[in-house]
Amino acid sequence: MAKQKKPLVGIVMGSTSDWEVMQQAARQLKDFGVAYAARALSAHRTPDLLEQWIAAMTKRGAKCFIAGAGGAAHLAGVVAARTTLPVLGVPMPSKYLQGLDSLLSIVQMPKGIPVATFAIGEAGAANAGLFAVAMLALNDAGLAQRLQAFRDKQADAVKRAKLPDL
Ligand code: RP5
Repeated sequence: MAKQKKPLVGIVMGSTSDWEVMQQAARQLKDFGVAYAARALSAHRTPDLLEQWIAAMTKRGAKCFIAGAGGAAHLAGVVAARTTLPVLGVPMPSKYLQGLDSLLSIVQMPKGIPVATFAIGEAGAANAGLFAVAMLALNDAGLAQRLQAFRDKQADAVKRAKLPDL
């Protein structure tokens, strides 16, 4: 359902191997009824296609991008170089450095071209989705209400939680 409306969020990842993690961002958007489009496009393997997709998404009315990549993870920075829309970066876990390489690549953007960087892996992807929801909720009262309800539900779960007896 979320994919049929005009996408408000563009989710891009460097490889199809990132989808297992990045689907967490899509899941949040879908659960909140926010339309998105997701693509695997690489800053180094398909730079021209990436540029065309960013332009097309912007023309269709996207309000922000979520970019996930691993290793020398320049994808989010390249997306930010091509748009003034907010770019949320998600570092992918990597084989040898467990995503620390991805995190540092995304978070250490030089001054002037910001990328909002999230945690490594699933939590980061889900939070990027939730952050996109929060930004869109600034101009959508219904979405803001659903986001508050989501927060309330989490708080209730903590309040109800009981630790096991010894
Ligand atoms: C990056 O290299 C991708 O974002 C991915 O996280 C990583 C490995 O890609 P594959 O070799 O699995 O295609 O570009």
